[in-house]
Amino acid sequence: MRYSYIMRICVTGARGMLGQQIVEMATSLGHTVIPWVRPAADISQVESISERAKHDAPDCIINCAAWTDVDGAETNAAAAYTANYIGARNVAMVAASNGIKLVHISTDFVYPGELQRPLLETDSTDPKSVYGSSKLAGEDAVLAHCPAAVIIRTGYIFGHHGPNLIDKIASGIKSGYNMPFVTDQWITPTSTTLLADASLKFCDSDAVGTYHVTHGGGCSTYEMASYIAELTSGTGTVTRTTLGEWEPIQSARCQAVGRQLAKRPVYSVLNTDKYYRFASLEPVSWQDAIRTHLHVSST
Ligand SMILES: NC(=O)c1ccc[n+]([C@@H]2O[C@H](COP(=O)([O-])OP(=O)(O)OC[C@H]3O[C@@H](n4cnc5c(N)ncnc54)[C@H](OP(=O)(O)O)[C@@H]3O)[C@@H](O)[C@H]2O)c1
Repeated sequence: MRYSYIMRICVTGARGMLGQQIVEMATSLGHTVIPWVRPAADISQVESISERAKHDAPDCIINCAAWTDVDGAETNAAAAYTANYIGARNVAMVAASNGIKLVHISTDFVYPGELQRPLLETDSTDPKSVYGSSKLAGEDAVLAHCPAAVIIRTGYIFGHHGPNLIDKIASGIKSGYNMPFVTDQWITPTSTTLLADASLKFCDSDAVGTYHVTHGGGCSTYEMASYIAELTSGTGTVTRTTLGEWEPIQSARCQAVGRQLAKRPVYSVLNTDKYYRFASLEPVSWQDAIRTHLHVSST
């Protein structure tokens, strides 16, 4: 599937990890891209977004702006809800009233994470963290105010425009660190390039509703870290731990700096059949995506 026309696209949170990737990709494809950043485009202020939309007259808004400090949200729920609920609602109201297509980015943290099989878009939500609850409230507001919107649920993002765990593990291996990772929490690492491409495909489509977008497969964070260690030269090591051992240590670290560890889903591998059918693509595995990110060619 190719993009059928040149679009005018406004990207909220355009200074963030995903926002920057979308701006870069959309620009390189020849779209007219208008990065929306604070303070001129503050999604918590409906007038601010409304004025920008009238001035910039986009075909599409991609809403990447969010409060993304998952542990910080536990003690600052008001700030998380201001961006993730009020902000998402404002963008949806402005998109709907101006006839603008909206693609809104959400998270796997809306799920409780107790099922041990790839999750469907129709599975029950029940977030276990303030961040997840605020993102779910945002999703509900988006669909209530802008039923023609697309919501992308994804997880564990990495890319070239922000700090991420893939780079931290690779740099830890190079620096000779010993890094423990859990064997009993399952995720799918997902690149910002996949998400940017998916967002642009949705802008240029009649798709509506919720889609899971991740790479293919799933892994424990220990498997992911071991794979990165295999690809990286260095004396560092990756060792096994479990959530039962790891959470109390992390929780104490958080408390020592006045924070509170948020509960994460134990299992959040997402079933992405709906997205790959829409895009007429085969999923790229999480391993291939990490190898591409680290510039390691396949053998
Ligand atoms: N990172 C992950 O692993 C992950 C996983 C699943 C889903 N997601 C979702 O993916 C999306 C993008 O995440 P990301 O990792 O790219 O986030 P990020 O790097 O933390 O960037 C978020 C951006 O949102 C902006 N922002 C926050 N409040 C705003 C407001 N009131 N008005 C306008 N802009 C505001 C921030 O602006 P400033 O630059 O001004 O601070 C920042 O640039 C988010 O919806 C997030 O919930 C992320």
